[in-house]
Amino acid sequence: MRHVLSLHELTSEEIREVLDISTAYKSKLESGDRPALLSGHTVGLLFEKPSLRTRVSFETLTTQLGGNSLFLGQDVGWGSREPLCDFMPILTSYLDLLVVRAKSHAKVEEAVAYSRCPVINGLTDISHPCQAFADLLTVKEIAGDSFLSSHITYVGDANNVTYSLALICSKLGIRMSIAAPEGYQFESSFIDQLNEQNGNSLIKQTANIAEAVDGANFVYTDVWTSMGQEAESKQRLKDLADYQVNDNVMNQAADGAKFLHCLPARRGEEVASEVIDSDRSAIIQQANNRLHAQKGLVIWLLGKA
Ligand code: CP
Ligand code: NVA
Repeated sequence: MRHVLSLHELTSEEIREVLDISTAYKSKLESGDRPALLSGHTVGLLFEKPSLRTRVSFETLTTQLGGNSLFLGQDVGWGSREPLCDFMPILTSYLDLLVVRAKSHAKVEEAVAYSRCPVINGLTDISHPCQAFADLLTVKEIAGDSFLSSHITYVGDANNVTYSLALICSKLGIRMSIAAPEGYQFESSFIDQLNEQNGNSLIKQTANIAEAVDGANFVYTDVWTSMGQEAESKQRLKDLADYQVNDNVMNQAADGAKFLHCLPARRGEEVASEVIDSDRSAIIQQANNRLHAQKGLVIWLLGKA
């Protein structure tokens, strides 16, 4: 049985398949075709952090595919009410698919060992693969057939979103630059490992924004303080202050460069309103693509294509 906890687990070909299914089912939906591929199926959403996009897009895509979704918050007692060896096999024996959003990636890995149905990571502290699929679907739509030649630059805190974006770019052979100050970069061994594993040197990391953004077709950022890091917020604001995506940064990117953000955003911190609220911003298309990208992932993972 396959799970999608990290994009490490998928081959380049599988990632391309998911993106193709997403595109095909997005067109079907736009033409009013809603095939009931999940008729009689139940998708559970086990979440221990807040969510708008991930929760609503998974619930909606399940409905569009003729299935039923169950939102499972803190009251089901994951990790508190009974041992995992009881909780997880019982929960997953009812379900056809489980989406998990958790504070700790290790906690998800531990739970998955007891799972009786496929599990999709709906965000952990280190990984957000669903976001990366939607990001690449958006890049594909905007850049068209030559999207693999795009240059994507991420500016800010190298976090869970950056991690999955770097993995998907590396696997698809897309150039990605990360601009982050020291202390907010990935271990250099992670970047080396990506480039070695995928036989390319497309993923780069630097503290120099101008160098990273030069010629970029997409400039991406995320909050400086992720969920769970609130106690560090003051320090993070100080340390990352020079890494705001504003007009000056966008003007150093390629002509026609688009702005991306996984959302939620904090205007005036990681991004200025002059960018996120301008016509260079593709955030609504990107957020809407969460639904289409995850639909492709669900159809692929459950073998319904
Ligand atoms: N981008 C994202 O995952 O949004 P939510 O936290 O609202 O699900
Ligand atoms: N890095 C952010 C992403 C939210 C979708 C967080 O983990 O809070």
